[in-house]
Amino acid sequence: MKRRDFLKYSFRGIVAATVGMGIYNTTSGQVELVRVPVKIRNLPPALQGLKIGLLTDFHSSAIVPNKLISAAGQLIMSEKPDLIVMTGDYITGSTKFLSGSIGEFKKEHLIGCVNALSQLKAPLGVYGVLGNHDFWSGPEVVKVLCETFSKQIGLVWLRNCGVELNRDGTSFCLLGVDDYWEPSCSLVTACKGMSTEKIRILLSHNPDINDEISPARERIDLVLSGHTHGGQIVVPFLGQPVMPSKFGQKYRAGLVRDGDRQTYVSRGVGYLLAPVRLNCLPEATVLTLT
Ligand SMILES: [Fe+2]
Repeated sequence: MKRRDFLKYSFRGIVAATVGMGIYNTTSGQVELVRVPVKIRNLPPALQGLKIGLLTDFHSSAIVPNKLISAAGQLIMSEKPDLIVMTGDYITGSTKFLSGSIGEFKKEHLIGCVNALSQLKAPLGVYGVLGNHDFWSGPEVVKVLCETFSKQIGLVWLRNCGVELNRDGTSFCLLGVDDYWEPSCSLVTACKGMSTEKIRILLSHNPDINDEISPARERIDLVLSGHTHGGQIVVPFLGQPVMPSKFGQKYRAGLVRDGDRQTYVSRGVGYLLAPVRLNCLPEATVLTLT
């Protein structure tokens, strides 16, 4: 076989295998449990080993089965986390790009999502922030969404505010902001009155919030985000054609360290536009502080 033919057939083989794997990953309903150790500077001994379960971007809609959301919840519960957090896009919002059956809000999708997540329980509680798609469905839907999650699973919303949580006599701060693309997003308000001496973890749907964080002014030890879906469609050799971030591919997925800042970006659970995740499995994350 000539070298040129060999290269041609090899390339086709790699593309076919990658597409095949992507289709399998899409149709199998598989969710990957991702365990991430996160080094935090000056972490008090009582917080060593603290486990945080992170779920995000369910996009409950006509194209996301409830069993996928439920499977992600089961994986989190199997790890017995101390704390569970969710970083937005519980539903898919209506926009001019997402009209009709995909983008239209239907209460059954909200109920399906909440029921699938009703298993979530943790000693330090369940906390959440809202994503751009939640806001895009309008203030009435946001109100119903917040009330339903609070009532049914006891979720505490962190809308530009924070709470102090205590583990074995040592407290730390959990902060949350509204979606970064919303005018209501305010990191300054979220930090108000929260100790700067304690470990501070921030929930922000959109990792671009890092633009607002100045380690000298608002020290945040760890940001937890979603939003990018890990690209959702990851094309071999080319990467992700669409990335809704001003930082390009930087916050596509995984743990991103940038000087004194560190952000974990989850690929999320659901789908946007089509039930396809090419080379980008849905994810349930458990972060362990060290
Ligand atoms: Fe999303």
